[in-house]
Amino acid sequence: MLNFSYLNSTQIHFGEGQIATIVREIPADARVLVLYGGGSIKKNGVYTQVSEALSQHEWFEFAGIEPNPQYETLIKALPLIKEKQIHYLLAVGGGSVIDGSKFIAAAALFEGEEPWDIIAKRGKIKAALPLGVIVTLPATGSESNNGAVITRNGQKLPLNHPLIRPRFAILDPSLTLSLSPRQIGNGVVDAFVHTIEQYLTYPVNAKVQDRFAEGLLLTLIEEGPKALAPKTQDDISVRGNIMWAASLALNGLIGAGVPQDWATHMIGHELTAEFGVDHARTLSIILPATLKVRRESKREKLLQYAARVWQLQEGDEEQRINDAIRLTEKFFRKMDLPTRLADVGIESSDIENIISRLQAHRMTRLGERREVTLDISREILQMAL
Ligand code: NZQ
Ligand code: ZN
Repeated sequence: MLNFSYLNSTQIHFGEGQIATIVREIPADARVLVLYGGGSIKKNGVYTQVSEALSQHEWFEFAGIEPNPQYETLIKALPLIKEKQIHYLLAVGGGSVIDGSKFIAAAALFEGEEPWDIIAKRGKIKAALPLGVIVTLPATGSESNNGAVITRNGQKLPLNHPLIRPRFAILDPSLTLSLSPRQIGNGVVDAFVHTIEQYLTYPVNAKVQDRFAEGLLLTLIEEGPKALAPKTQDDISVRGNIMWAASLALNGLIGAGVPQDWATHMIGHELTAEFGVDHARTLSIILPATLKVRRESKREKLLQYAARVWQLQEGDEEQRINDAIRLTEKFFRKMDLPTRLADVGIESSDIENIISRLQAHRMTRLGERREVTLDISREILQMAL
């Protein structure tokens, strides 16, 4: 196992009715800004629950944070925060609303010239407004990690800082019942690929991390399809298992002390920024191709994945690896996600454009061994056609 330092300070309140606990989490005298997206929370009753829970607080709202949150939208919250003298942010939504709110939390107290410098020039974050989160879409794990992904002018760039970690997160699985099948599938696959990015690299004898990761993968394979099936789609315990798995997949626990890949995510971000493909759908296309192209450097972990996740323990090694990748693709298709670039209208003539974008964003040595050069990324994209 590699050396690591680990802290996850986000307080989790899991279960039905837990929105009520925000009264205890947010100081009584804090002026609160509730941030949300395009209005799903008004249709499914979550907005009403939040209003009731905040009835003793002075609070304001900022709506319209879109999927793949845009810088131009987010900075519109800053004058409101100043004018209303906001002390506390409460994000209610999926990864986009949470990520957008994390950026706003840092931008509101940023002392540099332009808030974009926080990302573009890695401007030092010295303070951030405290942030609480109510999760409505289990997928990104953003509710209990330090990360955010923000888009500006077609560039989708990451931001990481301990000060933007949410103070608390409400994980009430009943809030996810209003999700469309597309968002359910996206969420399950995003969480699955987060786990793979931290697990399917090379062995460092990290037994606990490996077995936690395998437990998360098995849970998502078992419960994901149930959330789409007519008989079980409204089962709160299915939704709860998916929600907790998605959170644990990217809260730092399984990634501590192990090598991490993330090449699939970095290539995927370019597909979202350039072609508007949903985040998880870029991953379901790129991951299988990554595993095929990098099978030699991932060989030992691919065999472990085949054995422990897909029960492929016998026979020829090459065949076991092929079957593990085939079953992974089959699982993605079962969740109704695409597995080829052609499925989302991207052609071989688009590949050079994607490569130039990776180059412009200095994504030229990706992966757990930093061996995913632009040539390897090109090979992966060709494999995914
Ligand atoms: O905006 P509203 O109206 O709320 O609708 C949203 C949105 O249209 C809808 N939705 C959310 N909860 C719902 C609901 N609809 C009905 N019922 C509910 N309960 O779902 C749509 C998609 O929401 P979004 O937040 O965009 O989805 P997701 O959670 O998948 O987040 C994706 C974003 O997170 C970033 C991605 O790049 C992308 O920008 N990521 C963040 C990470 C992190 N911070 O650690 C890691 C990830 O790898 C990822 O990159
Ligand atoms: Zn992701």
